[in-house]
Amino acid sequence: MAMKYSDTVLDHFTNPRNVGEIENADGIGEVGNPSCGDIMTFYIKVKDEKIEDVKFKTFGCGAAIAVSSMISEMAKGKTLEEALKIQNKDVAKELEGLPAQKMHCSNLGADALHAAIHSYQSAKEKGLSAPPKVIIDHEHEEGDEHGDGCGCPSCEKDEHTGASTCSTCGPEE
Ligand code: FES
Repeated sequence: MAMKYSDTVLDHFTNPRNVGEIENADGIGEVGNPSCGDIMTFYIKVKDEKIEDVKFKTFGCGAAIAVSSMISEMAKGKTLEEALKIQNKDVAKELEGLPAQKMHCSNLGADALHAAIHSYQSAKEKGLSAPPKVIIDHEHEEGDEHGDGCGCPSCEKDEHTGASTCSTCGPEE
């Protein structure tokens, strides 16, 4: 049975926003999902306690890429306090939903952003010149459908390459 992805998910998957790394970032957060091996890293630049810039690198499934892209857009310009309130379910909602099997991929998103904020805060608290990378290893959650593998949103072929398009069918236009 083919999974249905919203147009918003496909848009963010084929054309992810804010991909990359920030040099001299003020906060770096990384979240890994041990069940599928996917990793998401968020970099933030903070000014006046607001997220001035945000970039990410995601090695993961299409849903994880779309989630990272969406959350980067949601976080930009927000105060740290507001950004800490962004929940995984808010991201899934902004993406107009994710298939049930892919909801666990959205769990990485908000956590990675929050880890980057904690990284900034701990550097500030301790007076460090460079922020420590905050790493969270995502554990299985009760009722989560982990271990389905990561698939291309268009054809569900398993891909873990971090490529932005599926090698089998390419992105859906
Ligand atoms: Fe690993 Fe989506 S994040 S399956």
